[in-house]
Amino acid sequence: MSNPSILILPGDGIGPEVMAQVTRIIDWFGEKRDLTFDVETDLVGGAAYDKHGVPLADETMARAMEVDAVLLGAVGGPKYDDLDFSVKPERGLLRLRKEMDLFSNLRPAQCFDALADFSSLKKDIVSGLDIMIVRELTSGVYFGEPRGIHKEGNERVGVNTQRYTETEIARVARSAFELARKRGNKVCSMEKANVMESGILWRDVVTEIHEAEYPDVELSHMYADNGAMQLVRAPKQFDVIVTDNLFGDVLSDCAAMLTGSLGMLPSASLGLPNAEGRPKAMYEPVHGSAPDITGQGKANPIACILSFAMALRYSFDQGDEATRLEKAIEKVLSDGARTADLMGPEGGTPISTTQMGDVILEALDASL
Ligand code: IPM
Ligand code: MG
Repeated sequence: MSNPSILILPGDGIGPEVMAQVTRIIDWFGEKRDLTFDVETDLVGGAAYDKHGVPLADETMARAMEVDAVLLGAVGGPKYDDLDFSVKPERGLLRLRKEMDLFSNLRPAQCFDALADFSSLKKDIVSGLDIMIVRELTSGVYFGEPRGIHKEGNERVGVNTQRYTETEIARVARSAFELARKRGNKVCSMEKANVMESGILWRDVVTEIHEAEYPDVELSHMYADNGAMQLVRAPKQFDVIVTDNLFGDVLSDCAAMLTGSLGMLPSASLGLPNAEGRPKAMYEPVHGSAPDITGQGKANPIACILSFAMALRYSFDQGDEATRLEKAIEKVLSDGARTADLMGPEGGTPISTTQMGDVILEALDASL
């Protein structure tokens, strides 16, 4: 049998720095756990634009369709701000999501005990927090037509379209209900059915799927604005949240910050399972390319490493090894390892990106 394959796309900004630590972790699993992956690396985002004039080359897209999982770092940076919209770094990421049909974006927000003090909210509101946002990722206003900027008389008009089919809503709803069954068995669906027809349809379809297929799961509905408010008021009321592409983008940043730092949050973007039951999949940290700290060795690699843990769990059926890696991270955090983003009000000396990689590898060794 051949090794499972991974395509690494480090991308821009701190992407390559954090991904370098993931590569060390992947090697560790090969050496110490007999879990060897065939790894190849390619360009995405601004890095691809610099070489190819497009943010994702066709050959890279083709490889992404063939491998068992894609790991992506981050895309974008000020250098590319003035590029034409069609070749902006973000378009490379959106093309991967769309063409791989990665409709279900899992964004867990978990508060590590050691970091409960770092949240902008009071400790008792976030300690023990464990919620999962399931964001629809291939439709909605990100992709709806018509779109564009046109002239009407003397002024310009910007247009984007929020559009959802029943099929698109149903499949992401199923993915949320399936996850809920393995967790706290609760789903809260968020939309704006009070002002948007697409929200009315969203609520209808989620309710139908619930009644027909998942009556054992507890379902509630919330307007997305109220959802944002509840996330900062009492986040532990939630288990799984399912929502559309744009609301999911906003709500997941909000949820991420509850946990203390955006540098901690991983994500998995999954498509439908193939014949062997393996979904097309891409894993990426929720944080962006962070141009302000690029190249300084300050970036926290944990979100990217936790994204690889999600790959172990969701693509490679290695739940125990994923847990091993998560536990190693928990261990170094409770031992006090802190990158610059995790410096609390009491201060201290931060460790570098590579040093964080070092201590996680040590904790992995200690786990054997
Ligand atoms: C995210 C990011 C992306 C998005 C950007 C980089 C296109 O914010 O993954 O949340 O808006 O989806
Ligand atoms: Mg975002």
